[in-house]
Amino acid sequence: MPIIAPSMLSADFLKLGEDVEMVNNSAADWFHLDVMDGRFVPNISYGLPVIAAMKKKAKKPLDVHLMILEPEKYFEAFAKAGADILTVHYEVSPHLHRNLQAIKALGMKAGVAINPHTPVSVLADVLCDIDVVLIMSVNPGFGGQKFIDHTIHKIHELKTMIHDRGAATLIEVDGGVTLENAPTIIKAGADALVAGNTVFASANPTATIESLKKITK
Ligand code: DX5
Ligand code: ZN
Repeated sequence: MPIIAPSMLSADFLKLGEDVEMVNNSAADWFHLDVMDGRFVPNISYGLPVIAAMKKKAKKPLDVHLMILEPEKYFEAFAKAGADILTVHYEVSPHLHRNLQAIKALGMKAGVAINPHTPVSVLADVLCDIDVVLIMSVNPGFGGQKFIDHTIHKIHELKTMIHDRGAATLIEVDGGVTLENAPTIIKAGADALVAGNTVFASANPTATIESLKKITK
């Protein structure tokens, strides 16, 4: 069964506590939390105090996706706020290996996100150090965008790379995931699905999470 990570970017911020409870009581596995700085991506979302507040209620791991420049400046702060998985973008990490070690030294799992134009091959020499690769299937910055179909090839290719190295790295896919395309994404080799709009814009978010969870290869 896939790991399901609802993106709280699509939650109702006036009822954030209720939406955290909904995820707690659903079949979801992780909370996906999108942090944007208005510089690496053309949008600003929420940050440390909001994550620390969610941590108080959340009964599942916090999967924090940093879409910010110089993410290494904030690793310690996100560890303190309660991140369990901390993901940095490949595109902002000239010293990716160092970043991965620093995240793990703070007791978190280390993730690397790649934009749609970034080939999976750039991760070849650090793959064994990565706990989760977050393949962006939209250009990061906004929820509710359309899935870029070419992503499917990248999932296949990354799965082969992981298999060839005997690595334990998980593949997470983020952006435009729907009940319709999720089976294809899982078949290609994804272990975890992020879903924002699909979950929170549905009439019954709990049932939608359940439906995503039940998708089999
Ligand atoms: C986009 C974010 C995503 C986003 C996904 O920059 O990284 O996590 O919230 O939202 P949907 O599932 O609506 O595309
Ligand atoms: Zn994300």
